[in-house]
Amino acid sequence: MRIAVISLFQEIIDSYLSKSLLSKARERGIFSVEVHDPRDYATDAHKTVDDSPFGGGPGMVMMCQPVFDLVSECNLPKPVIGLSPGGRRLDHALALELSAMDGFTLLCGRYEGIDQRIIDELVDFEVSAGDYVLAGGELAALALIESTLRLIPGVLGNAKSSMDESFADGLLEYPHYTRPASFKGVTVPEVLLSGNHALIAEWRKAAALYRTLVQRPDMIKARGGLSEADERILAKHGYSYKVSE
Ligand code: ADE
Repeated sequence: MRIAVISLFQEIIDSYLSKSLLSKARERGIFSVEVHDPRDYATDAHKTVDDSPFGGGPGMVMMCQPVFDLVSECNLPKPVIGLSPGGRRLDHALALELSAMDGFTLLCGRYEGIDQRIIDELVDFEVSAGDYVLAGGELAALALIESTLRLIPGVLGNAKSSMDESFADGLLEYPHYTRPASFKGVTVPEVLLSGNHALIAEWRKAAALYRTLVQRPDMIKARGGLSEADERILAKHGYSYKVSE
């Protein structure tokens, strides 16, 4: 997968990716990330990439020319995705769609915004990291990159692990414990010490269902409520709950 990032802050992207879990998969050539800086395409002596907004108002706006020149010279992978609070919200389903692609380009805005003509002419669709405003698209781009890449088999080193996690089957993940079995008098669920792997798998399913019921009832609704089998294993493992309307 070839990922290109258009950003005025190359070091934010590079430093994160060089230190994260993803760096090994990058070295193994499972994906490549290249960062392109619009400043390299500025034409004046000051390397100007922004200007004040027409119509007045605070802040600066990213200019068309450096970004248009960058895109026309770099043969970037499609689609071009703009990071913006107004875009489609990043979630597991979107990460899964992106993980099936051969590549894409991420355009990170900075300053107060980017000239709308860049979005209209160069961007295929926009993605948001959530309903809040960041100083720029870089953190959102990194969240998109990491959530997408970890779904590609081989990236995490363990093909199964990303499928076992929260959201993969519409549930939050079950809780984890490690040694010691008792810490300051608080013990881990006994079933985990039983060595009975079928029972442990069933407990994990029940614990995942319960955690999702309590913390994200909207996700239980989205999967059509609890099945009879779900209700059975919740009761068997001692979870009682009330489904809220
Ligand atoms: N740029 C600024 N805020 C953002 C957000 N919430 N998501 C994506 N890009 C952004």
